[in-house]
Amino acid sequence: MKTCETVAAMRSLRRSWTGTVALVPTMGALHAGHMTLMAEARRRADHVAASIFVNPTQFGDPRDLEAYPRTLDADRAMLEGAGVEALFLPSVGEMYPEGDETIVETTRLAALFHGAVRPGHFRGVATVVTKLLNIVRPDVALFGEKDYQQLAVIRRMVRDLHLPVGIVGVPTLRETDGLALSSRNVRLSPDARQAATVLSRALDRAEALAGAGATVEEMRAMIRETLAQEPRATLKGLDIVDAERFTPSSAT
Ligand code: PAF
Repeated sequence: MKTCETVAAMRSLRRSWTGTVALVPTMGALHAGHMTLMAEARRRADHVAASIFVNPTQFGDPRDLEAYPRTLDADRAMLEGAGVEALFLPSVGEMYPEGDETIVETTRLAALFHGAVRPGHFRGVATVVTKLLNIVRPDVALFGEKDYQQLAVIRRMVRDLHLPVGIVGVPTLRETDGLALSSRNVRLSPDARQAATVLSRALDRAEALAGAGATVEEMRAMIRETLAQEPRATLKGLDIVDAERFTPSSAT
């Protein structure tokens, strides 16, 4: 696997490739969930590039940025094992040149849900993903469905800006107890980790209700009821929305 630390090096490697290219953007601290993205990328393209860049503009709280897990040696080994051909590993200065003043923002989608509690987060994601797509110029780029709003923001942005890339969403990988694999799970205490499994139970039950023809209101009630069974869980917001535009479904 070749490592490119500059935009120029990544572009030059990209130019040497013939055939199709897939990009898997990451912030590192890789786990088995990321590996499903790499495997899908390999199925879809002749060449696979991954990027590792802990993007400062998507973190509101500097302590969160500082505490984000960084495991570069292990990440490299996992990428090699997954058959990734190139690792793009830029510095902050390389991605955000001195004096830069351009941002990318999906104005409506980015303000909803997760965006309302982390203002500026999706602006940071959209901006860095646009840069990565421009640098690597992949035919397809793959993102996890775990961060579903992020995936929707990226799809919207690619459509609105006419970016010539296919966006592929890859299903969430879960532990046997239902916890979604995430780089941040290492920061959970055993108690908190156990408590977090209530989320997948709530979603599973709502999904089963949906399959049985329940109304949105019945599904919402089921989710509330399930979350209430876990004293360590605090519900900050709940809605059931359409998968593309995130328009609230209040009827049916
Ligand atoms: O999902 C992530 O790891 C990040 O938000 C992404 C898409 C790599 C952008 O920094």
